[in-house]
Amino acid sequence: MAKDVIVGIVGAGRIGIVHAKSIAYEIPGVTIKTVADPYLTDEAAALLTKLGVENVTKDYKEIINDPDIEAVFICSSTATHSPISQEACKAGKHVFCEKPVDLDIDKIKATLKVVRDSGVKYQVGFNRRFDHNFMALKAAIDSGKIGDVHVLKLTSRDPGPPPIEYIKVSGGIFYDMLVHDFDVARFLSGSEVVEVYAAAAVRVDEEIGKAGDYDTAVVTLKFENGAIAVVDGSRKASYGYDQRVEVFGSKGAVAIGNDALSTAVISNETGVTSEKPLHFFLERYMGAYSEEKVQFFDAIRNNKKPPVGGYDGLVSVVIAEAAKRSAQENRPVKISEITDLND
Ligand SMILES: NC(=O)c1ccc[n+]([C@@H]2O[C@H](COP(=O)([O-])OP(=O)(O)OC[C@H]3O[C@@H](n4cnc5c(N)ncnc54)[C@H](O)[C@@H]3O)[C@@H](O)[C@H]2O)c1
Repeated sequence: MAKDVIVGIVGAGRIGIVHAKSIAYEIPGVTIKTVADPYLTDEAAALLTKLGVENVTKDYKEIINDPDIEAVFICSSTATHSPISQEACKAGKHVFCEKPVDLDIDKIKATLKVVRDSGVKYQVGFNRRFDHNFMALKAAIDSGKIGDVHVLKLTSRDPGPPPIEYIKVSGGIFYDMLVHDFDVARFLSGSEVVEVYAAAAVRVDEEIGKAGDYDTAVVTLKFENGAIAVVDGSRKASYGYDQRVEVFGSKGAVAIGNDALSTAVISNETGVTSEKPLHFFLERYMGAYSEEKVQFFDAIRNNKKPPVGGYDGLVSVVIAEAAKRSAQENRPVKISEITDLND
């Protein structure tokens, strides 16, 4: 039997705990040796111990300097992603980095250079590509059943905004939230975005506006192959996490809806009702969080290219910057204005 892949996790907040749980419960052949977080809560420490984590520390350098650890999950706050990615790659560790890789495009490019020079596997946490519904959508497009893609419509609404303190360090709605939709739109269209036009507003919470961000946005993406996508995003949908997609093409259309706890539909004299969508990403995407890691470990074990690489991490952030600039300046913004993706 092949020996276990030994990993370390940097950051034990919401997403760090998701990865720890899914490795421990759902992914055989992987051992979490160390989890590092300077502000680890007692609750998280107790859970990690229950999951069998040998070493819980405040200092991520214990992971970087441990020769036993082959792969590092970077799940800490966004500003730490590119510096810790670089340190881990230089130490010869494979890296799974949560999105976004950085809020600064030049820093992402510098990180990708370190990834290339060190020759490690580097995967970015765009989990939606691995969701069962999104995979079915992609398979339908790739099979040619809907012909050439003409229009993609993505609905992306959270059940409620994160705390203002998170918003302030997250990079805002385009970098933190809609970056997932920009990645999905590229993935489904099979083409690259050339121009972005965004309208954005504060409709949910004035505090979000005071923090310099928006909570509501509609973004139009024009692709090299002529397709057009529209992403409609909100930080608050009163009925829960709303993530639907329709792709329309020359021969037909394919759509996915939300997952619910059950498909029960109750009909009575007051009307016909069914379950609300699963509440948020922790409920909706647990399967996707497992599948993205299964494929990451497969890339490590079998020397394959990771399914979502550093370039995907870069392009999604460049689109986010174009959307932010478009909303602020009220005009279409070309990707080529933001950066040269070839350098
Ligand atoms: N792919 C997804 O679906 C998804 C979902 C949520 C969050 N994220 C991303 O994951 C990152 C974390 O988000 P979150 O929601 O878990 O935030 P969070 O605030 O719940 O957790 C972040 C954790 O990182 C820790 N941390 C900060 N600096 C650190 C350091 N130097 N070393 C170790 N730990 C450190 C903090 O103490 C905190 O516990 C963000 O970049 C976010 O964009 C991705």
